[in-house]
Amino acid sequence: MPTSAGFEEMWRDLAPVGRSASSGGYFRQPWATAESELRAWFVEQCAARGLTVETDGVGNQVAWWEPAPSVQEGAQRSSRDPGVLTGSHLDSVLDGGAYDGPLGVVSALAAVDVLRARGFEPSRPLGLGVFVEEEGSRFGRACLGSRLVTGATTWEEARELRDRDGVLLGDAVADAGLDPSTGLLSLDRVGTFVELHVEQGRDLVDRDVAVGLASEIWPHGRWRFDFTGQANHAGTTRMEDRHDPMLTYAMTALAANKQARLSGQRATFGRIAVEPNGTNAVPSLVTAWLDARASSDDDLATLVEAVRRQADDRAGRDGTSLVVTPESVSGSVAFDADLAARLASLGDWPIIPTQAGHDAGILSAAGIPTAMVFVRNPTGVSHSPDEHAETADCLAGVEALADVLEELTR
Ligand code: GLV
Ligand code: MN
Ligand code: MN
Repeated sequence: MPTSAGFEEMWRDLAPVGRSASSGGYFRQPWATAESELRAWFVEQCAARGLTVETDGVGNQVAWWEPAPSVQEGAQRSSRDPGVLTGSHLDSVLDGGAYDGPLGVVSALAAVDVLRARGFEPSRPLGLGVFVEEEGSRFGRACLGSRLVTGATTWEEARELRDRDGVLLGDAVADAGLDPSTGLLSLDRVGTFVELHVEQGRDLVDRDVAVGLASEIWPHGRWRFDFTGQANHAGTTRMEDRHDPMLTYAMTALAANKQARLSGQRATFGRIAVEPNGTNAVPSLVTAWLDARASSDDDLATLVEAVRRQADDRAGRDGTSLVVTPESVSGSVAFDADLAARLASLGDWPIIPTQAGHDAGILSAAGIPTAMVFVRNPTGVSHSPDEHAETADCLAGVEALADVLEELTR
């Protein structure tokens, strides 16, 4: 089958899974129906290519294309030589786009088809992988699957995380039929990791190129802000007698936006929970999550500290109190520059930074030489139903990934 037909058929298979009829966006939260369906689909796709998927105790998946012994010998490799892993994730943010994650998985499968159509045989193992709960949309911990396999987060810590309905991660994993005591994906065979991803900004479209490589990921993280006040009657409580945590939160959101704009960084409050969430009562508690990103670890610390200081000042004036808890913090990642330069020369691709987090960042931070291939996004919109990439650019991405994998496994 030509690459385009294979890619488009896979893309059509995935299109309805977890899609909201009202927004057109995707709800593919981990250890739930849509995401499980996608992981089963991945197993079928690998089987159709003669590859067997191993699923670890939390749901991370890998299928290895083993080198033929004659090819391995011809290239003077031993069976202990490390392999190359490529892939991404299948979960989405709430009401997310179709491309963030699945594009990397579908492209990995399609790249295998391209390599086989070229008659290429790898002399190193070539793995196709899927990491679970990359977005942290359910349990709040970004890149949880790759954090677990690299040891950046322990299962003992992770199992206690709760989702919005109070479900423990340990129970969600068990309910999905998985058993962490059976072990986690081993990275022993992974000499290099390559993740293809839709670009989540406008760098490639502004440069007028379909494909690029990553240089770095900005440090970023999530902080929970608990603003506590006093519940009271919305009509009878005089304005000057209130201890309203909504006001402290509102001012904090404005301060975060201003602070980030002034310093050229990013700060977002995209999620809040209000108690008791009644129209005719001053709330007792507002919990809001700050997502902050900056060009250096120091700048990130400075940004978050400035937001916290202004929130504290305001809490003092409102008679409310504030507790700030870091939930998911990732330091800056500089991808292997020699690897990026070597791969960029295959297609004269630009090497660009990103402000989005990826499993590739976690593997890179764990010391695995890692590269990312970005595919142009015509609007730059992402984490939204409007996220998009043109098919021609996706196909260019598949060819680029095939070139990269050929270079790394020849
Ligand atoms: C993941 O996509 C993130 O950057 O939050
Ligand atoms: Mn992603
Ligand atoms: Mn994402």
